Amino acid sequence: MPDVPGYTGRVKLQSAYEAADARVALERGDILFFPDGGFEIPREVRTALTGATQDTRAIHKNIAYKPNIDRVSGLVDRAEAETIRKAMREYSRLALAFMARILPAYARTWKIDYASFRSIEERGRELPLTKRNDLLHVDAFPTRPVFGDLILRCFTNVNPEQSREWMTSEPFAKLAALEAKNAGIEEYAKTADSSVRKLRRSAMRALSKAGLPVVDRSPYDAFMLHFHDWLKGNEAYQRDCPKYRFELPPGSTWLVFTDVAPHAVLGGRLALEQTVIVSRNTLENPACAPSAILERIAGRSLIE
Ligand SMILES: [Fe+2]
Repeated sequence: MPDVPGYTGRVKLQSAYEAADARVALERGDILFFPDGGFEIPREVRTALTGATQDTRAIHKNIAYKPNIDRVSGLVDRAEAETIRKAMREYSRLALAFMARILPAYARTWKIDYASFRSIEERGRELPLTKRNDLLHVDAFPTRPVFGDLILRCFTNVNPEQSREWMTSEPFAKLAALEAKNAGIEEYAKTADSSVRKLRRSAMRALSKAGLPVVDRSPYDAFMLHFHDWLKGNEAYQRDCPKYRFELPPGSTWLVFTDVAPHAVLGGRLALEQTVIVSRNTLENPACAPSAILERIAGRSLIE
């Protein structure tokens, strides 16, 4: 990726106050870091959240907040729901305003996705392999395909004492050059405009219109979902890839395209997060999009 200024082929923790261009830094895979938090979170929001009891059953990995319908899920104690909903609504509002202020070019067309609260200690957490946070992976959403757009997430460590520990590896451009073919990108690309796929898509649309919970994915989305699990299950990758570790201290905020930067969480509890889906067309360097990178490797469109 020689046309991306500052691209070094590794993920860096980049001070947001020194970044010449926030978009360029994020798109090459850097983590944009605000040691002072970047925006104020009211004390009542922090207090409400530190007391929340999360449902630890596997279906709820985090406490989730859906801004579009103003609903919260993943709590044990229903009586807490109203307090948590208020607190998460406020974090979501503040985080979105903050992100829009520093990334106005993305904000014009981004889609607002969910917010989440990660209340459980990550070190030693027992989860099924594909849900484990301590294994390096790039993000993909099973229920919300992005059709080539990108997953931008804003995290805030609201733990007053403990840092959140992250590990990353080389960004998507390098990762895909090494592993996309091994993971089967060519098979996924073959489905791109097959007649079977066209039939399947029209059937999916009809079912979706009828209100059934089916998910219509592009070949890109299908590959990324597979790649997420493939990376977590790949012992050689997990063992041998270069690794960079970061401590995100109490009160800090960081922004990252979690489909560009492979990441794992090794420790920490009490982090808040807001996701937006950024249109590939609004990138400073659209060639940096994981979908564009995979399309170059596959030699065809993966979106339709
Ligand atoms: Fe992730």
